[in-house]
Amino acid sequence: MPPIIKVTDVGKSYGRSARILDGVNLTVKQGERVALIGANGAGKSTLLKCLIGLHPTSTGTVSTLGERFETLPSRAQRSRMRLETGFVFQKHCLVARRSVLSNVIHGFLGTPGSWRGFSHTTSSAAWREAALHALEDVNLSDFALHRADELSGGQQQRVAIARALVRQPRLLIADEPAASLDPSSGRDVMELFSKLCKRQGITLLFTSHDMQHARSFADRVVALRKGRIFLDRPSADLTNSDLEETFDV
Ligand SMILES: Nc1ncnc2c1ncn2[C@@H]1O[C@H](COP(=O)(O)OP(=O)(O)O)[C@@H](O)[C@H]1O
Ligand SMILES: [Mg+2]
Repeated sequence: MPPIIKVTDVGKSYGRSARILDGVNLTVKQGERVALIGANGAGKSTLLKCLIGLHPTSTGTVSTLGERFETLPSRAQRSRMRLETGFVFQKHCLVARRSVLSNVIHGFLGTPGSWRGFSHTTSSAAWREAALHALEDVNLSDFALHRADELSGGQQQRVAIARALVRQPRLLIADEPAASLDPSSGRDVMELFSKLCKRQGITLLFTSHDMQHARSFADRVVALRKGRIFLDRPSADLTNSDLEETFDV
């Protein structure tokens, strides 16, 4: 089986800036849960953006789910590939005035026929059912009909997780999903991520600047330092001095 993520010799500069990423190589296998750690400005978000095709790489190649985004010939194929990937960001970007349930159903936007589906009873019934199921997974069934902005920050991030998982992606990419939450909600959110991905066999790549999250919720930790991979090892083997050096910029 091809790796879910393969990054080969990637370099990235923004315009004429110095290299933000330099000679990055990374292979992630099906079902792995990987934490990408590093100090502010180390290049974590840039690497994720290259992975999902939001930014082109300056050198080297990136493939996710066995395909290279930039070589997929049609827009339809590129959107199909994006649909197999779920995203969660630091800011959950829910529609504040819509219900929790309808926010989760929005996870189906962009799927083939979705422009019809939102008014078509058959697809919408199936989506509603899938969304309710996803809300059950994140322990928010009781809030399905609440307005999104009535929920706490941690609960809203759980809605964002349900929205990302509702169409059963093979890969989940999360950029600092716990960074805007208080420590206890942050832990809950990370625990949920890790548990659901393991149970559903989803490959997880998340960035974090919290070492405890990396240690507890990933199987493997990759550290970026000044745009280069500085260490890559099982989270159980991570030492305090690894972490000190990672964050010593
Ligand atoms: N769109 C952009 N244009 C120019 N520079 C950028 C852009 N995005 C990020 N950078 C720069 O790239 C570096 C790495 O940023 P980023 O990937 O966001 O790091 P991290 O997520 O590890 O904090 C920083 O110096 C940042 O200022
Ligand atoms: Mg970042």
